Amino acid sequence: MRKDYSLPAAQVPVHQPATVSAAERALLKDEIRDRLAALDAVLVAHYYVDGDIQDLAQETGGCVADSLEMARFGRDHPASTLVVAGVRFMGETAKILSPDKRVLMPTLSAECSLDIGCPPDEFEAFTQAHPERTVVVYANTSVRVKALADWVVTSSVGLRIIESLAARGEPILWAPDKHLGAYIQRATGADMLLWSGACVVHEEFKFQALKDLMAVYPDAAVLAHPESPAAVLDIADRVGSTSQIIQASRELPHDTFIVATDRGIFHQLRKHSPDKRFIEAPTAGDGATCRSCAHCPWMAMNELRTLAESLQREDSEVLVAPALGAKAMAPLKRMLDFPPP
Ligand code: 13P
Ligand code: SF4
Repeated sequence: MRKDYSLPAAQVPVHQPATVSAAERALLKDEIRDRLAALDAVLVAHYYVDGDIQDLAQETGGCVADSLEMARFGRDHPASTLVVAGVRFMGETAKILSPDKRVLMPTLSAECSLDIGCPPDEFEAFTQAHPERTVVVYANTSVRVKALADWVVTSSVGLRIIESLAARGEPILWAPDKHLGAYIQRATGADMLLWSGACVVHEEFKFQALKDLMAVYPDAAVLAHPESPAAVLDIADRVGSTSQIIQASRELPHDTFIVATDRGIFHQLRKHSPDKRFIEAPTAGDGATCRSCAHCPWMAMNELRTLAESLQREDSEVLVAPALGAKAMAPLKRMLDFPPP
C-alpha cells in the first residue's frame, strides 16, 4: 500500500488570530492602503483570509479570488509588487508567473498541508517509477514539485483538464490530494495513479454529522469543495472550487446552504447573497477535538496587523530560483492557456 502523506494533527499549528478593536482595524486598513500606494503594490487575496483583508483587496483595485484567478490576476496586473494574502504556494505561483515583479506576503510561515505532504525528493522518485504517466499536480505544491509536472491544475479546471488528457488516452500520475484525485477519477473514468496527501481542513468534514445536519435543514443545498472526503462529496448538491461554490450559492434557488469548505468563504457568500443563510458543514462530530475546525490555520495567519507590519518592513518576500521557476512556469502556463468552457 502507498505511504500516507496526511499530516498528523500534532504537526498542524493552532493559530488564534489576535483580537483587534474596530477602531484599530480601521487604522490598520488606512495604513495598509497607504503602503500599497507607496510601494506600487496590488493586494491579491484568497477567499479564506480575514474578511477585512478581502474587503481591502477589493477596495484598492486588487482582487479576492480562487487560486486560479489569483494566479491570472497577479500575472496580468501592471503593479511592480504583488502582495499575496493566502498561503505560500500562492505567493510562489505569483512569483513563477511574474519573475520580474516583487512578491510580498503577510508572512512566509503560511503553509499548506498538501504542500508539506508532498516532499519533492519522494515525489520525484514516484514520477521516475512511472515514466509512462503524464504528471498532473495540484497548485497546492512547492515550486520543485511543480517543476516535475507536465500540468499544474487547480480545482476550478482540474476536472476539465484531466478529462481532455483521458480522452487522448494518457495515463495520469496525480498528486498530492487523494480526495480531489479520487473525485476527478470517479467523474472522468481517467486512469489515475494517486499520491496520498490530504487537506487538514477538508479532511475534517464528516459524512454522518452532515447527514444529521441535512435532516435538521431539509431544504438546504449542500456545497462542497472537492478536497472533502468522497462520502461528503457524494451527498453534495454541488462540488466545486471556492469560486464555483460562490457561483452555485448565487445560482441555486435555495435560501439555505450547508457549506463544506473553509469558513473564510462565508464573508463573500454573505456579501453576494445577504438574504440567504449559510451554515458550516460539521467537522469532527461529537466530542472530538478539532485542530482545523473548518478554518485553515495557515490562512488564519493572514491578519491585518501582520499584513501592515510586513508592508512596513518589506521583508516577507517570496523568492524562487530563476531556473527552477522557469521549469515550473511551463506546466502552470499550460493550465492558464487551457480554453475556458
Ligand atoms: P481554490 O482553488 O478552490 O480556491 O482552493 C484552494 C485551496 O487551498 C482550497 O483549500
Ligand atoms: Fe492547504 Fe487545506 Fe489550507 Fe487550502 S485549506 S491552503 S488545501 S491546508
